[in-house]
Amino acid sequence: MDRQRGVHLYRPPHSISSRYVAAVYNQAGEDYVAYADGNPERLFCFDGLHGYADRHLWSLIERKLVDLRAAGGNSVTLLDAGCGPGTWLRRVVTHAHRLGFSKIKARGFDVAVAQVQAARRLGRAVCGLPGVNLTFEVGDLLDPLPEPNASVDITLCLYSVLSHLPVSDLPRVASELARVTSGHFITTVRPIGSTPTVFVDSIERARHFKLDHRSDRCEVEFCNGCRVAVSFHLFTARELKDLFHPHFGIEYLHGLDIFHNRFMPDRRWNPPAVLHDERLMIRLAQLEETYATDPNFMERATHLLLVGCHESLRHGTNMRRSFASIPPHPSHPSCSPRRRRSRPPAIRSRAPIGGGG
Ligand SMILES: C[S@@+](CC[C@H](N)C(=O)[O-])C[C@H]1O[C@@H](n2cnc3c(N)ncnc32)[C@H](O)[C@@H]1O
Repeated sequence: MDRQRGVHLYRPPHSISSRYVAAVYNQAGEDYVAYADGNPERLFCFDGLHGYADRHLWSLIERKLVDLRAAGGNSVTLLDAGCGPGTWLRRVVTHAHRLGFSKIKARGFDVAVAQVQAARRLGRAVCGLPGVNLTFEVGDLLDPLPEPNASVDITLCLYSVLSHLPVSDLPRVASELARVTSGHFITTVRPIGSTPTVFVDSIERARHFKLDHRSDRCEVEFCNGCRVAVSFHLFTARELKDLFHPHFGIEYLHGLDIFHNRFMPDRRWNPPAVLHDERLMIRLAQLEETYATDPNFMERATHLLLVGCHESLRHGTNMRRSFASIPPHPSHPSCSPRRRRSRPPAIRSRAPIGGGG
């Protein structure tokens, strides 16, 4: 953005890897919203393809907001690096407003201009809330961030943004994210044993895909004939920890969604008798808790989730959060009784294979 003249100038990303990634997410445009978030108006229902992981992640972020407010905070500053269509930032800002924060400053940025446009369009109503200053900009995480030192309470970098960056740039990026964060940093990436993803759509839409781990290059040919190639890196748990350990206290490093993906029925294949079973979901959540930090399982989860805190908070928080306590079905007031289901939708129209980003 050219701030002096108040106009948005699109500057193409500097690095070749960012240009490729931007092209893929630009091409997907708003279809990516439907794939990643389901209905973007239903911010707190978590009944999209990736409901379990989203619910779990949200419970952690929500807890951070509640803690800030309980500590007497009236204002909160948020940053979402690689915000995509902005669903997560809208969610956090909306909830912060409900919690009574009177001043909410939030910036999301993404290298894909089409995602930023979607975020701006979807975020219009939230931008108009009193006390809210929410902006979405085109920006490359490989560039220095404009935020001053220690100016952001919660920094998000969710669903594989870091997996798209060249590994050689990651230490610099981690240090830059830490420079601006005064509170918590929350990220998810794909671990080495995760299920496959083609990033912008479910994998059954791909005719062919292949990830070359030596070059971290993934090639995808979609059924409509479209071909894309992007950089994509799968992390070991150790690698992710070592990346952020010099900068943050590591509060939480877990495998996220080890079992749920596998247990979702697919209506193209399973008979109606294999329904979504709420009791089974609760059992699965217990299993997730048991195995989330088990070295044999965590790197086979769909995502690796890391929560880091600024040095000054290292000893002040207790993030132990029970997986089993994550609500098994939509429970937020914004899922109105009429829309709320007593259980998640029985069978999704598309199989949840692969999970998000
Ligand atoms: C799987 S999507 C996740 C989007 C969003 N964080 C979410 O959770 O819905 C990955 C996003 O990372 C963005 N991205 C990848 N490399 C980036 C970079 N160097 N700078 C900024 N954004 C980037 C992509 O454009 C894409 O929107």
